[in-house]
Amino acid sequence: MSGDSAPPPAMDGLTLSDAVPEAEFSKRVLIKSILGRPDKGAGLNGQKVRIGGWVKTGREAEKGTLAFLQVNDGSSPENLQVLVKSDVYKVSDVVATGTCVHIEGVLQRPPETATQQKIELQVSNVISVGTVDAAKYPLPKSKARLPLELLRDVVHLRPRTNIISAIARIRNALAYATHTFFQNHGFLYIHTPIITTSDCEGAGEMFQVTTLINDAERLEKELKETPPPSEADLKAAELAVKEKGEAVAQLKAAKASKKEIADAVSELTKAKENFSKLDERCKLAERFRLHGGIPKKDGKIDYTEDFFARQAFLTVSGQLQVETYACALSSVYTFGPTFRAENSHTSRHLAEFWMVEPEIAFADIQDDMNCAEAYVRFLCQWLLDNCYDDMEFMTKHVDKSALERLKMVAGSKFEKITYTKAVEILEEAAKVKKFENKVEWGIDLASEHERYLTEEKFKAPVIVYNYPKDIKAFYMKVNEDNKTVAAMDVLVPKVGELIGGSQREENYEVLRQRILDLDLPLEPYQWYLDLRRYGTVEHSGFGLGFERMILFATGVENIRDVIPFPRYPGRADL
Ligand code: 4AD
Ligand code: MG
Repeated sequence: MSGDSAPPPAMDGLTLSDAVPEAEFSKRVLIKSILGRPDKGAGLNGQKVRIGGWVKTGREAEKGTLAFLQVNDGSSPENLQVLVKSDVYKVSDVVATGTCVHIEGVLQRPPETATQQKIELQVSNVISVGTVDAAKYPLPKSKARLPLELLRDVVHLRPRTNIISAIARIRNALAYATHTFFQNHGFLYIHTPIITTSDCEGAGEMFQVTTLINDAERLEKELKETPPPSEADLKAAELAVKEKGEAVAQLKAAKASKKEIADAVSELTKAKENFSKLDERCKLAERFRLHGGIPKKDGKIDYTEDFFARQAFLTVSGQLQVETYACALSSVYTFGPTFRAENSHTSRHLAEFWMVEPEIAFADIQDDMNCAEAYVRFLCQWLLDNCYDDMEFMTKHVDKSALERLKMVAGSKFEKITYTKAVEILEEAAKVKKFENKVEWGIDLASEHERYLTEEKFKAPVIVYNYPKDIKAFYMKVNEDNKTVAAMDVLVPKVGELIGGSQREENYEVLRQRILDLDLPLEPYQWYLDLRRYGTVEHSGFGLGFERMILFATGVENIRDVIPFPRYPGRADL
């Protein structure tokens, strides 16, 4: 490996060029800083550079005396063409797909007859090579593509494919854009907890966080290794306590010396400790025998013995907690992982996904919709401005309308319709079109309905608001009609629901009654009710499903391919 030993003398006699900026904190230049220039690197002819990357494809030529490599370092979708001669390095050791090369060489114009490349690298010095046994490498060796579905079996290697690396760069850009948007608008980034004791959506789709099962397994192992004391042992220990107690009493009655009494008391203490230790183990063994080591009280699991001394879960949304900061700092947002234990196998659901959740004080449902629209349009424009090459790649290889869609959304106002209006439109459509789910006022819109509205009717993003109270969460503001709540969903082509949000119920009595009406327990929500008891304020917010935004932007079909490590029923690799 490179580093300690002095590099061999450069064969080309040149020193590294400073025409290409060195990658910071890394011993090389980025391939993007060569190929990403307006002249595609042509102006760097004759400059010496050091690069590092992984071989996408490689081939031997001229009877094994030369290797052509396409090298990618993740800085851009483009590969640098690299030439290695056999007098510099053993060419058969660098041509395998997946090989890592850290190399120096001189940039040169390829012959006129060659490919579209404007520049290639003639290697003069190999610093290090991470070889690959081509016969065992799980990714295809040629330009052939593995379907995304099969790439899910190699989540640790799939970032080396063009498509997954393009998605990673787009995802990164969207995260950066998210912070930029909210920071530009005066929002504070708040870290809400991942472990929670409140169910935000009240839908009972939470993963439980508990150490009771590990404790039970540990107990089982321990009882196997050190069996609990027998009945006779316990009886003997009990008897010992009795005897030692009597001995103390006798010594005291006989007015024995202080020392004698103290010694006897010490013996008694030891006997008591021994007994309680054995007794404790017998009780544990009994608990294990009765319910596999899980503590129970009145027939129910006794969570006071769990890690947090109460039941705890992975959060389904940071909303409730972030509201506490909105009700003090006005405009805030949280952006983190959320978890849902719904057993859905759709291409739009994950068990672990990321959500962006702004929460705004002194804001009603109209402000909320305006914020959602401005944010989504900003994200689209950001990709056009900062990720054009990756978006071109997606447009070419995944969804030919991807770039057009971004431009359309960045440049047009969103349609806003009430739920009631949406149902009217769907009822009208149902006269000529077959929906699988029946349409009538009061239903929760199904994915097919949402997609009809955005893809067919409006062919643009649509915000549907004022949904029936009965199908929405307890915290949403009840409207004056007492039938609907000030909820809103942003629906976009390709995906359907991208954002769900609402104005929050700020009236203490109404909120309390909603919790009761929905058969939710009051106790865990007392702190949430406090926000209405003390200094209540009109406020609103929403949650954008981050992976759904990436689906929308890229046109990728399945949500499992736009998160680095997908978690869904039956699957949690790495
Ligand atoms: O509509 P949801 O359930 O809203 C909330 O959780 C609110 N507490 C948000 C808020 O007001 N602060 O979820 C918000 C968004 C959905 O619109 C969808 O884009 C995404 O999160 N989402 C999922 N994404 C991937 N996999 C899942 N299982 C998802 N469930 C929701
Ligand atoms: Mg929703």
